[in-house]
Order: sequence, then C-alpha cells, then structure tokens
Amino acid sequence: MSLSPSEQPILEVKNLKTYFFLEKSTVRALDGVNLSLTRGKTLGLVGESGCGKSIMASSIMRLLPEPPGKIVEGEIILNRQNGEIVNIAQQDRHGAEMRAIRGGEIAIVFQEPMTSLNPLYTVGDQIAEAVMVHQKVTKKQALDRALEMLTRVQISAPKQRLHEYPHQLSGGMRQRVMIALALSCNPSILIADEPTTALDVTVQAQILNLMNQLQADFGSSIILITHNLGVVSQMAAEVAVMYLGKIVEHADTLPLFHEPLHPYTVGLLNSVPVLGRKGKKILVPIQGMVPSPTEAIPGCAFAPRCPRVMEICSVRQPQLREVRPGHLVSCWLYGE
Ligand SMILES: Nc1ncnc2c1ncn2[C@@H]1O[C@H](COP(=O)(O)OP(=O)(O)O)[C@@H](O)[C@H]1O
Ligand SMILES: [Mg+2]
Repeated sequence: MSLSPSEQPILEVKNLKTYFFLEKSTVRALDGVNLSLTRGKTLGLVGESGCGKSIMASSIMRLLPEPPGKIVEGEIILNRQNGEIVNIAQQDRHGAEMRAIRGGEIAIVFQEPMTSLNPLYTVGDQIAEAVMVHQKVTKKQALDRALEMLTRVQISAPKQRLHEYPHQLSGGMRQRVMIALALSCNPSILIADEPTTALDVTVQAQILNLMNQLQADFGSSIILITHNLGVVSQMAAEVAVMYLGKIVEHADTLPLFHEPLHPYTVGLLNSVPVLGRKGKKILVPIQGMVPSPTEAIPGCAFAPRCPRVMEICSVRQPQLREVRPGHLVSCWLYGE
C-alpha cells in the first residue's frame, strides 16, 4: 500500500543511531530510534532526563557537535508536500540544502531563549535577518514580517519590541520572540525542546496556549519535547516515550495515558501527578537509575528496573511494533 503525500508522515526517523565518540568511551545517545511525525499534528516526546530527547532534536536539525557526535546509522526522512523526499541524515550539515531546511522547513525553539537570541541585535533585526536568509525580500519587508510575527505571538507593544534587545525582555517575552523567530519563515515542522520548562507556571500556560493556537493557524507539525506529562496530555495528539536512546512506546495521547502498555510508561505515569486526574494518587517512583548509555545492553534496556521483567528480556532486544491499531510498543510482554 502506498500513501499519498498528504497522508504520509511529514517526518520519519528510521533506526537512527547518534553516538558521541569520546576519548575513553562511546555514548550511544540515540541507539536505533524509530519515530514518525503525522502531518499537522503535535507529537509529545517524553522520557527521563538523559534519554536522548535533545540529541534527537539536534540530529534532525543537524546541529550536533560533530565531532565528537556523529550520526552513525539510520535515516531522517523529510516528506515534502510536493512529493520530494530528503534524507536529512545523508546531507552535508553545512550545505545549501541543510541551510534551507534549517529555519525554512524545520525550526527549533529551545528551553533557554538567551542561548539562541543574539544579545547584540534588536529583536526586530534578528527576526528580519532570519527572514532574509530564507526569502527574497527587502529589509523593509523583512521588518514588516517581524512586526507581524511579534503581533501573532501576542507580545505586548510589538512595535516597541522591534527596537529592544533580548536582555530588556522578560523570560516569557523572550520565549514569544523565539517562537516568532522560529515561525517567521513558515516552517512546516517546529521542534520545541522544553520550551516552557524555565518559565513560571502562569507564563508557561500562556505560551502553551499560544503554541496551540499558532499550530491551528499555521497548520505546522510539532515535536514537543518535555519531561512534563501534564503538558503533553494537554498539548499533544500523539505521544512517543523514549528510554535510553530508543522509542519504547508510541500511541495517540488518550490510549497512552489510559492504557499504557510499556512498564516504563506505566512507571512514568505512576511517578508524577498528572493534571486532570481526579483524586489523590500515591506516587510511586520508578526504581533504580537510567543505566549509562556507554554500556552496550544485550536485551531490553529497561529490564534491570522493570517490575515485570522476564527471562527473555535481558537476552534479546524487543522491537517496536504495532500491537493494537496505531499503538506501538517494544516489550516482550506483548509477544513477538
Ligand atoms: N556533547 C556531548 N558529548 C557527550 N555526550 C553527550 C553530549 N550531549 C549529550 N550527551 C549525552 O547524550 C545522552 C542524551 O542526552 P540528551 O539528549 O541531552 O538527553 P535529554 O534531552 O533527554 O535530557 C546523555 O547521556 C548525554 O550525557
Ligand atoms: Mg534535553
């Protein structure tokens, strides 16, 4: 069965391995990631700290520190609306194709906007500059676009902000500027890496609402990276759960929260209070620690911490497969 371009996932990551080759060890940050992003939807990417979420983002953007980082295997397939297919993993990361994709087709918003905003340029100049890299427009037109974007992200006094520097803005305003910057060239994919983690809860809610609204307006496909399951339950249509460099479960948000299949997902849900759940819940942390990604693990990487571990789990690696319609899991509990 072949899918028409509009039904195809906009982005498909296949068996992606990104390693860091250090002097004394090799860090397997991504160790065979399989993931697809549905066109026009928000996918929540969750997992404990260190499991590879940010490296996933920088691999897709080809912004890894190379060396010591390197994509050693796998594909990152961008399915363009016009039917063209690009394997990002095979591109020259400094090449023209990648420069056009970065920002023009796939944009990223980081947790801390101060690291991605240039302190020496005004907000207006930064957005205008980005627009001029990707579109043939005059400085005046680019500045008009900057003002339009600042208005779209509902920043107060947008005209005045054009002439201000990042340090003159609050954290929430800076994150709005980052979102304006990211969306200024109409990217089809937005990757948001913990975009609200550094903000107060009230500001966090405003930014999340804004992202929801912008997605509806622009029809973007979003990968929302967060360790906050409450955020995911509100924002994402689908959720992918990462553990030690692999996706262990991927499903629509409702079934994932109501009928999680992987013991790791069950553990994650039991260890945090989830918004919208009634009644008090006894929180049960997952036992043990995430193993070091420098050790090669023969079986399932979660086996040493799994309350339902079986003999086969430490011997053979389970594959991510569809065990119910649209519900993928890699776990021996669900057979071969
Ligand atoms: N520049 C680097 N050099 C070596 N190891 C790295 C580097 N960046 C990240 N890592 C390792 O890659 C793994 C995944 O990291 P990361 O993607 O940042 O996790 P997350 O975003 O899920 O918290 C971690 O073990 C981390 O220590
Ligand atoms: Mg991270």
